[in-house]
Amino acid sequence: MNYAGATGIQPGTKERVAHIVENVDRLPALPAIVLQLMRVVNCSKSSVVDAAKLIAVDPVLTSKVIRLANSSFYGIPRTVSSLPDAIVILGFNTIRSLVLGLSVAKMFHGNHSLNMDRFWKHSIITAIAAKIIARHLRKNVMMIDPESAFSAGILHDLGKLIFSQYVTADYIRVCGYADRSCSSILEAEDELLGINHTEVGKTLAVKWALPPDLGSVLMYHHRPQEAAEEASFLVNVIHLADIIAHTLECNLFDGEVCELMDRDCLAELKMDKDEYDKLLHNVENSIEKSQEFLSTIMIS
Ligand SMILES: [Fe+2]
Ligand SMILES: [Fe+2]
Repeated sequence: MNYAGATGIQPGTKERVAHIVENVDRLPALPAIVLQLMRVVNCSKSSVVDAAKLIAVDPVLTSKVIRLANSSFYGIPRTVSSLPDAIVILGFNTIRSLVLGLSVAKMFHGNHSLNMDRFWKHSIITAIAAKIIARHLRKNVMMIDPESAFSAGILHDLGKLIFSQYVTADYIRVCGYADRSCSSILEAEDELLGINHTEVGKTLAVKWALPPDLGSVLMYHHRPQEAAEEASFLVNVIHLADIIAHTLECNLFDGEVCELMDRDCLAELKMDKDEYDKLLHNVENSIEKSQEFLSTIMIS
């Protein structure tokens, strides 16, 4: 049996994937509202009113932002009915990740080889874990904004959506091959598609002009030691959050494979094994809340 027959991958797939990535201009562009909102969120002079003006133009987005602020995920003891109040409660970075997540979910609708419910659940568990890690690290000397960590967690696997939507049948085979050969999804993508989801994610980050730290997360979350110094801390946080999410998902989904943690990751974050175990436990206790976040994002 030839190689294509053994893996089930169609001849010419690597060339097709390379063509898709080289022609990023044909990939969907981010909607104007997302670009404007990113500018607002990144500008220190921006106010809640600036963000509210932008979001209010879109009634679906407005209702989702208010619904999320009222969800048990944020546990606010009173009813939030106005958009500005909801923005204050959620914070600029959560608004950015929510709007980005919603836009991406809308752009990549249609046929997928990945189960979208499971994909977003993994993204949200990673985001929750990243936020909990960032809060924990604040108690030590190192500082990282928990909401930025949450945003990065939501978006870290964006590159997979390109494979899932544009080479749908072959990506099912890539996932099957990873399972059968006990290799990581990254190795299977490299071997069968000639490129992996972190490289595709980085291409999207450049095309969409995402902030550089987010681009580094998309590119290096499986190889944190390769990230540039200035992004290394956030990348290590997302790497650890991703490992925690996969570990916990082994109890949630059939066929889930635990990923290997980079051997320097805990040391980079100045954490020991006991602290890691505690974090794992804390994230596990927060997973229930992810369902409400997921339904807010997915239901129109
Ligand atoms: Fe990944
Ligand atoms: Fe992941």
